[in-house]
Amino acid sequence: MIEKLDELFKKFKKELDTVASNADALNLKAQYLGKKGPISNILRSLKDATASERKVVGASANELKVSIQDLINDKINSIEMDLMNKKLESQRIDISDRQSIRANSMLYSGGFHPINLVQNEIEDIFLSMGFEVLDGPHIEDEYHNFEALNIPADHPARDMQDTFWFEPPDPEASNRHLLRCHTSTIQVRGMKDRKPPFRFIAPGKVFRCERTDASHESAFHQLEGMLVGENISVANLIYFMKTLLSEIFKKEVQVRLRPGFFPFVEPGFELDIQCLICKGKGCSVCKKVGWVELLPCGMVHPNVLKAGGIDTSKYNGFAFGLGLDRLVMMRYGIDDIRLIHSGDLRFISQFKSY
Ligand code: PHE
Repeated sequence: MIEKLDELFKKFKKELDTVASNADALNLKAQYLGKKGPISNILRSLKDATASERKVVGASANELKVSIQDLINDKINSIEMDLMNKKLESQRIDISDRQSIRANSMLYSGGFHPINLVQNEIEDIFLSMGFEVLDGPHIEDEYHNFEALNIPADHPARDMQDTFWFEPPDPEASNRHLLRCHTSTIQVRGMKDRKPPFRFIAPGKVFRCERTDASHESAFHQLEGMLVGENISVANLIYFMKTLLSEIFKKEVQVRLRPGFFPFVEPGFELDIQCLICKGKGCSVCKKVGWVELLPCGMVHPNVLKAGGIDTSKYNGFAFGLGLDRLVMMRYGIDDIRLIHSGDLRFISQFKSY
C-alpha cells in the first residue's frame, strides 16, 4: 500500500509539471483528492486491513493529501505571480517618455467633446472676423425668449408642449421662467449692452420638450450670431455663412437657401446642407430628404431691433442660429444625435484628444 502511495505521488508530481493554468491545477487537485480519486480509494480499501496496517497507511495517505494540497497551492501561486509579472512588464511606463505615457491606456489623458472641438473652431473663425463671443443664462424669462423677439403671446412656439416651463410661484405672474429654447435670447441681451455697429456670436445649450430620435434631442446646442450696422444686406449674410461653412468643412459642400419663417427675422431663410452621412441619398438623420437644416437665418426684424433700443432708421442687421449638433454630426459622420449627450467615453474618446 505504501508503495502504491509513493508511486501515486511520483505520478502526481510529473503531471503537476505539465500544469500551465489555474484551471488545470484545480482539475488535477480534484482528480487526486476527490471522493472518487485514488487516495480515497486506498483509504476505503483499508476497511479490510489490520489495525496497525490501517494506522500506518492511513497516516501516510493523509500526509500525501497534505503534500498534494500544498504543491497545488504553490503551483497556483506561481502561475498567478507569472501572470502578474507579465502584466507589469507589458504596462511598464517610462515616465520620462511622453510617447510611452500616451500609449499606455492606464494613463487616460482627457479629450475634448466633439461639440467643444467644433465650437472652439467656430469661435476662432468668428473672432478672426471681428465678432465677440457672448454667453447667457439657460434659465430665461418669457421676455427674453419670446416677447423681445417679436414672438407674440399666441404664437405656437410658446406652446406648453415645446417649452420647458418652471412652475410659476404666482400663476398670474406676467413674466414666467423657462429653459431657453433657442440662443436668440442672447440677441436681446447683446443688443442691450452695445451701440451699433457690433457683431457677436453666442454658443450654448438649448432645451425643447421634444420626443427624441436619431435627429432630435431635448437638450442640444446652437450657436447664435448677430451683426448690426449700416446698410447690411442679404449678400453680407450669405457671405458670412459661406465663409463659415467652407472653413468648417474644408471642402465644397452643397447648400441650398429656402425661405423660412421666424418672427424675429424678415426676410427669413433656411440654409440647408446636403446630408454628408448619406451624401444626399436619404437616411435617418436627414429624415430621408437628403438635406439637413443647419443654418436658419435672416435680416433682423425691426421690432427686435427696436426692443433692443436700436435706431432702425439708421441701422439694420442679420442674425443666424446654427445647429451645432447637426454640424458636428455632418462633420464626423455621426448618425445619432443621442450619442452626443450619452456621456459614453467610448464615443467621446474617438475625437481628437489633447
Ligand atoms: N432661433 C431660431 C431657432 O431656434 C433660429 C434662428 C436664429 C433663426 C436666428 C433666424 C435667426 O429655430
